[in-house]
Amino acid sequence: MAATENQGQGTEQQGPQESRVFAPPAAFAAQAAVSGMAAYHALCAEAERDYEGFWARLARENLSWHKPFSKTLNEDRAPFYRWFEDGQLNVSYNCLDRNLENGNADKTAIIFEADDGQTSKVSYKELHEKVCKFANGLKSLGIGKGDRVIIYMSMSVEGVAAMQACARIGATHSVVFGGFSAKSLQERIIDAGAVAVITGDQQLRGGKQLPLKAIVDEALALGGCGTVKNVIVYRRTGGELAMAAGRDVWLHELVAAQPAVCEPEWVDAEHPLFILYTSGSTGTPKGVQHASGGYLLWAALTMKWSFDIKPADVFWCTADIGWVTGHSYIAYGPMAVGATQVVFEGIPTFPNAGRFWETIKKHDVSIFYTAPTAIRSLIKAADVDPKVHPDNYDLGSLRLLGTVGEPINPEAWMWYYKNIGRERCPIVDTFWQTETGGHMITPLPGATPMVPGSCTLPLPGIMAAIVDEAGHDVPNGQGGILVVKRPWPSMIRTIWGNPERFKNSYFPDELGGKMYLAGDGAIRNKDTGYFTITGRIDDVLNVSGHRMGTMEIESALVANPLVAEAAVVGKPDDTTGESICAFVVLKQARPTGEDAKRLALELRNWVAKEIGPIAKPKEIRFGDNLPKTRSGKIMRRLLRVLAKGETITQDISTLENPAILEQLKETS
Ligand code: WTA
Repeated sequence: MAATENQGQGTEQQGPQESRVFAPPAAFAAQAAVSGMAAYHALCAEAERDYEGFWARLARENLSWHKPFSKTLNEDRAPFYRWFEDGQLNVSYNCLDRNLENGNADKTAIIFEADDGQTSKVSYKELHEKVCKFANGLKSLGIGKGDRVIIYMSMSVEGVAAMQACARIGATHSVVFGGFSAKSLQERIIDAGAVAVITGDQQLRGGKQLPLKAIVDEALALGGCGTVKNVIVYRRTGGELAMAAGRDVWLHELVAAQPAVCEPEWVDAEHPLFILYTSGSTGTPKGVQHASGGYLLWAALTMKWSFDIKPADVFWCTADIGWVTGHSYIAYGPMAVGATQVVFEGIPTFPNAGRFWETIKKHDVSIFYTAPTAIRSLIKAADVDPKVHPDNYDLGSLRLLGTVGEPINPEAWMWYYKNIGRERCPIVDTFWQTETGGHMITPLPGATPMVPGSCTLPLPGIMAAIVDEAGHDVPNGQGGILVVKRPWPSMIRTIWGNPERFKNSYFPDELGGKMYLAGDGAIRNKDTGYFTITGRIDDVLNVSGHRMGTMEIESALVANPLVAEAAVVGKPDDTTGESICAFVVLKQARPTGEDAKRLALELRNWVAKEIGPIAKPKEIRFGDNLPKTRSGKIMRRLLRVLAKGETITQDISTLENPAILEQLKETS
């Protein structure tokens, strides 16, 4: 089971009791898909009464099945649950063809907002054609059902089309975030056994051209990627690059002569739609495998329930397709419900920190979904430069706001509510994970009274609970471990190639083997039963909403020839939620002064090269040793206290080398 050493962390983070409550605005509630708490409770009751019947009804109502399913849930091989297993469908058919059939052919599917502010639009009809040609191009290379394809692209219509094209032919995609290093990319290519990589020549971010294809070349040159037969390159910037004859193909050349129609490959509901790598507390990143039917059901349904999506809405999720949020709420969910969405290539601070607010006005965005980190950094920017304060922008098109990826602190929530939502828009604080496929605990915008900093209540059919380490329920008001007691359709199916790890990580025997362990601590309010997430209970960090394992960063550090030992902990950060603090023992004598500064910089860059810039430690402290128990175990809880700059009040009687604490107090 997850390490519980830092469980205490959660209790520290509970903070003061939040007493502010905000009812959903009456006008919003009146038109909402789920209107009022009675409607919410009715759905919950339906799920309680007839769990399988509830999900079967929703799957029939929300998805188009090529072959209807007769069995809803198969628990025979629990925790390897199977949903709608004798049904067949195609995800791309559900996202595209269905819209051509139901009158959305000429509706805008994607408004592409480029880094430099240029805008282009594609209708459902055009996107369908693009995806069909792309899919036919993939087939012409011999790629088909069950093959794995890595997608290493920046935010673009082509990136979304690449995912849809894979889904169309039954290939399983694995998107790797464009900020990951060649080494991280190589590891994922090998683990997935990918037959092809789809990439771009370069990516544009904040006015800068950054390499993509060159990193793919580097990754493949690292070796072990013999399964890769082709690299498909989307031309974005037109920058110079080398194309390997026989292996590399330009996307525009690949699709040029392809027919504009591609019959979808009908797959079983359990067919793996995608693998997405994410960090756990130990070992290499885990390939979280999702199925087709159950995943799409939840992506579509949460668009309706949590986002209250309506035909006239313009939806904007600012995530990247490299993360799960960009899968469920860009590549699949919006299209499964025929919505118009903005796909944004740039960053929130280019050309200035008013970019989000400007873009909302420009495209009349009505539903806006972003990360608390972005909100906090824009609060700061507006404090420094009043010109980019949201007051200067017309945000009248907005009707709903959302947040995701990390806890939102009540102050940031209030700022978002007042300055962006103008006290008119409900905020959905959506708690979920790569593994859950879609929202789990969130207010329903037309029903649930909101409390800043609380993700409130589980969605209907999601049996979330808080238990102790033996799996027993804890009373409201007492913190514990967040679990989900029954399987749900969009849950992780396995870890790619490692079913044992899947079982041990998510369905540990200690909890009886049938409860899904989220890896977060949580507490429910005594009176309302509302959930507040208190932070990870394992060694996973959340920096700017990006998940990272402390062990991955430690492994990267010790791979440097100068480093003897390293321990990484998270430190609370006003903007990024958490920041990475690394304690490092060098093989040489402990550096000080300028030397220490130079070496810290060198190691930070090393980690960026090994994993990617997002994993760079913000702070590096050098010591002659690390605080250890007599049995040699690093005492991370002490390092966490030191990182925060607090005085150690805990019991240090098991610590072998107390003198080391003094040395590690400050940044070198
Ligand atoms: C955290 C992102 C508090 C949590 C969709 C979880 C949150 C991890 C929230 C998953 C939220 C996500 N409030 N914490 N609303 N949303 N988290 O897999 O620790 O990248 O376990 O999925 O982010 O991160 P992941």
